[in-house]
Amino acid sequence: MVVPAAGSGRRLGGGAKALVRLAGRAMLAHAVEAMEANQCTVAVVVVSHPDALDATAKLLADEGLAKVTALVAGGPTRQASVAAGLRALPPEPGYVVVHDAARPLVAPGAVDRMLELLLEAGLAGVVPGVPVIDTIRRVDEAQRSTGIVDREQLRSMQTPQLFVREVLERAYRLALRDGVEATDEAALVELAGHPVQVVPGDPENLKVTTPLDLAIAETLLARRRGAGGGFP
Ligand code: CTP
Ligand code: MG
Repeated sequence: MVVPAAGSGRRLGGGAKALVRLAGRAMLAHAVEAMEANQCTVAVVVVSHPDALDATAKLLADEGLAKVTALVAGGPTRQASVAAGLRALPPEPGYVVVHDAARPLVAPGAVDRMLELLLEAGLAGVVPGVPVIDTIRRVDEAQRSTGIVDREQLRSMQTPQLFVREVLERAYRLALRDGVEATDEAALVELAGHPVQVVPGDPENLKVTTPLDLAIAETLLARRRGAGGGFP
């Protein structure tokens, strides 16, 4: 598994977003712990901002996250950071998951279920997506409406995204060769010519981007605690 955590959190106010605390714990710790909770997880590579390497190493040690096998410095884009993470994976695993540190609310066990489906159906990739709630409209440069988009066909993509390893590695090689930049793995895998299966995502697995998201995430975590769930 690769956990990209090397962003600069500009929309949250700047600074290593992955180290921002949520319910008393760094966002990265929540995300990695949930990934480790999958039985299929054998190795987690964390990709941190070059300026946050020391603090991240300390956090990972303090949290006792046992499946983390490497911590590497990320690049200027998410894609560059994931590429660095892929290079640091141990050689054995045949499947790779990429999960953003900015999604600390992911349900433990989500990846085990996705892997089951991938193996059963012989898929190249399985990615979660949630229906779009808002009415979506196209506008021109003058902000005049040019029509509505049928949201029934739209999904907002989430992580964790799961792929056959050689498929994802080839997709990243091709993207580098062709100078293609995308915001998730599914886009690159599709561009490389492989079908990607979208499965229902989890509306609670929100991406923490703005201060509002952080407040919502705090509330959700407090509710889970109150419910006595096993997920901290
Ligand atoms: N990410 C990364 N390397 C980058 C940029 C982003 O590893 N150069 C990671 C982030 O740490 C995050 C995920 O990709 O886990 C999704 O990115 P995003 O939510 O956009 O986080 P940031 O880039 O940190 O936030 P912002 O865009 O507001 O600066
Ligand atoms: Mg970003």
